[in-house]
Amino acid sequence: MLIRGGSPLSGSIVAQGAKNAALPLMASALLLKGQSLTLERVPDLMDIHTMAGLLRNLGANVEFGGGRMKIDVPDELKWETPANLVRKMRASSLVLGPLVARCGKAVLPLPGGCAIGSRPIDFHLKALAKMGAEIDLEHGSVHARTDGLRATRISFDFPSVGATENVLMAASMTPGRSVIENAAREPEIVNLAQALRAMGARIEGEGGGTIQVEGAKNLGSASVRIIPDRIEASTYLLAGVMTRGEVTVNGINPEYLESLIIKLEEAGIFVGVFADSVSVSCRDRRWKGVSLKTLPYPGFPTDLQPQIMAALCMADGTSVIQESVFDSRYVHIGEFKRMGCKLDIQGNTVVITGVSKLAGTEVHASDLRAGAALILMGLAAEGETTVCSLKHVWRGYESLMSKMTSLRADIELIPDQDGA
Ligand code: EPZ
Repeated sequence: MLIRGGSPLSGSIVAQGAKNAALPLMASALLLKGQSLTLERVPDLMDIHTMAGLLRNLGANVEFGGGRMKIDVPDELKWETPANLVRKMRASSLVLGPLVARCGKAVLPLPGGCAIGSRPIDFHLKALAKMGAEIDLEHGSVHARTDGLRATRISFDFPSVGATENVLMAASMTPGRSVIENAAREPEIVNLAQALRAMGARIEGEGGGTIQVEGAKNLGSASVRIIPDRIEASTYLLAGVMTRGEVTVNGINPEYLESLIIKLEEAGIFVGVFADSVSVSCRDRRWKGVSLKTLPYPGFPTDLQPQIMAALCMADGTSVIQESVFDSRYVHIGEFKRMGCKLDIQGNTVVITGVSKLAGTEVHASDLRAGAALILMGLAAEGETTVCSLKHVWRGYESLMSKMTSLRADIELIPDQDGA
């Protein structure tokens, strides 16, 4: 992507459906037998197509078009997942809970690590074992089997999003009362609970730290709307800040952006909050450095850490960011420095000294959110920036070129020089 930076963005966009809600909700369809799950506002992203391919490989029929997805699930499903699909996307591990609950067994190649840390699934496996699954690791794959999961109390050491989702899905098909303690509180968990409730599970407390589930052996067809994507929305708001423009994101629940709004206001940025939209107005404004720590929801989201770091690289004064969710989510800092940022890593903390301008150059995306942050920096930098390895970005940002262009960004796609 070739970006000519320096001009303010202005205008409004509509938030896409949340990638990190659509993926678990797609996996939850595997709990159905001879029934179907219909999803509205599904974003058209690479990860969604990867998950659709995985569901089809297991035997489900997936139709997807115009934001609407219909997943028809037969009585019999395969329970072994193909390594080539699982290795492409960590979220494939979300089929584990549904398959074990529904088929009594599952084989899942262990997801590899990625640019943002080791990312094991030990919390998932320990929880399923507590529910009565036998878990063996053979030749790099998880082999799980059970004669029937049992409702129980699961208490997580860390409020893992994926582990909470796997247990919530497995418990929804396990008769009896299960309790999940120290559960993740993300809005995507609430959306999943909505879907499972629509299928016939009785669920209380989602969005809080303790979730109670009364499972049912036979779950039924349902139709659910995906919530808006809070990370995509926040990324566009930060693009408005960094280019000193005016950007409004429509079709978003401002509550999901609370931790970002608080930080932007602390930095001296005016944020407009309305019933279902949020706007920033930064014409000729400057903003102050702030300090933040990434935390599980409702704390500041780790998926926004590279993007807020980019904005703080241009703040007046010093900022401190502490990444407490992933063990190494600073791969992007090398590329930031090449554009003139002043960053000093000390363990899981980064001290940022604001600079008044960034210089465009060629940079490479290491992962989805780092790629998004580099695009923001290109929009704010002087001169031209070329962002390579965009395959990471297409995983999470629907219609990015048309949305950015509608905000008057000067960007275009050029052939890959190095074929990366
Ligand atoms: C989800 O990943 C999101 N992905 C991630 O978004 C997001 O960064 C993350 O939650 C945190 O908010 C999806 O929802 C598809 P975790 P997940 O389990 O479930 C460690 C994006 O950009 N951990 O809450 O994998 C893990 O290594 C992606 O859209 C274990 O140690 O996150 C990490 O350090 C990137 N053992 C921390 O917990 C486990 O069994 C948080 O992981 C599970 C996790």
